[in-house]
Amino acid sequence: MSNFVTIQRKINRFNKKIEISGDKSISIRWVLFASLAKGVSTAKNLLMSEDVLAAIEAIKKLGIKVKLENKVCKIYGKGVEGYNYKKNLIINAENSGTLGRLILGLLINTTYPIKIIGDKSLSKRDFKRIADPLTKFGVKFKLQNKKNLPLTIYGSENLKPVKYFEKKGSAQCKSAVIFAGMRTEGTTFIKAKKSRNHSETMGEYLNLPLKVIKKKNYDKIYVSKVKKIKSLNYNIPSDISSGAFFMVLTALSENSQLIIKNVNINPSRIGVITILKKMGVKISFQNKKDYKGEKIADIKIKSTKLIKSINCPIKLNASAIDEFLIIFLCAAKAKGISYFKNLNELNQKESPRLIWGSRILNKMGIKNIMTKNSIKIYGNPKLKINKKIIIKNYLKDHRVFMTSVIAALSFGGFWNIADPESIKTSFPNFLKIINELKK
Ligand code: S3P
Repeated sequence: MSNFVTIQRKINRFNKKIEISGDKSISIRWVLFASLAKGVSTAKNLLMSEDVLAAIEAIKKLGIKVKLENKVCKIYGKGVEGYNYKKNLIINAENSGTLGRLILGLLINTTYPIKIIGDKSLSKRDFKRIADPLTKFGVKFKLQNKKNLPLTIYGSENLKPVKYFEKKGSAQCKSAVIFAGMRTEGTTFIKAKKSRNHSETMGEYLNLPLKVIKKKNYDKIYVSKVKKIKSLNYNIPSDISSGAFFMVLTALSENSQLIIKNVNINPSRIGVITILKKMGVKISFQNKKDYKGEKIADIKIKSTKLIKSINCPIKLNASAIDEFLIIFLCAAKAKGISYFKNLNELNQKESPRLIWGSRILNKMGIKNIMTKNSIKIYGNPKLKINKKIIIKNYLKDHRVFMTSVIAALSFGGFWNIADPESIKTSFPNFLKIINELKK
């Protein structure tokens, strides 16, 4: 039996400052880099979500000691060759594509085969996209149905560097190959369509043999075998992908204002801000600063009476890839027809998100036309919902749950949304912050 959250009224006006949890992509990358470092690495504000805890469990199984105390995480790395584990090891990546995919790059030189498993949603996702490029290094894989989990990776001592062209704009594919390149003698070359660059940024900060040449539409990355990684203390900034739910809630609510503190605004992640601004949303950065190669700021958002429709430029897709569901809610209230295209990757997420976006809009009474990779949304600036809406069987995709909550609080109606525990993967205190805004 599913557990449901019921929302029966719109949120009242609010004017608040909030702090949200740490960035998921940076948290997982920090855990993986720290597991290879020599010495103790410490992180503050590490995201304490199931995806990150799964990453911690994974490195523990590889023989790395971890201590978690009072929101501080310490990882006792034993150097780049410090993994030590028993035969028949199984790593459970649970719901995390980032963990399941990135860690494969680090396991290409392991002695015994390692099995990777995941939950129902992760087991439906494509791992061939990682197995294919890693096979070229000399590793072998056995995959369920040739593309899914469970998979087994058979590491090799005879690795050779590769040339890889990443065409999807997937940071997970790019990062898995970077990690594999870090394990391989010689220089691996990656030509990658633009996508989030936290792996490269952390690698460069750590002075690893990694060079990035930025071109307009893609990056050239050269990576060589890493001999040593120094320990890395890190204060994880907040996650713009989590913040996006509150940005849209504020934009859609009346006479409200919100400041979200200390958010990572890496240019490869701020597609949502560019898109919301193009739609007329009042949003700005305050207290900008640089931190270990990343950029951080407080984000200020105000209610926006007139939301404009958008023909969303495809060059923004990768930098907003996790935010489209919530952006669709703005399009639902926009004056005019919004168009989002080339979104093949959206159906490759924790659930088929383009389909779920369309489904939520249909339930809200918003006309939309979806193809296999695009959606046209016919906005209604006067949108008010008065009917009963049930959201369930969505593979517990955290972003489907949170988008539905924001829709209910923004447009009204009588919503029953199943499986609130889905938020534990990325944003466990999401509902707590909603309650703070209601006070
Ligand atoms: C992520 C990359 C993106 C994103 C995911 C996190 C990462 O996936 O959707 O939530 O941390 O590298 P893809 O690389 O598949 O686009």
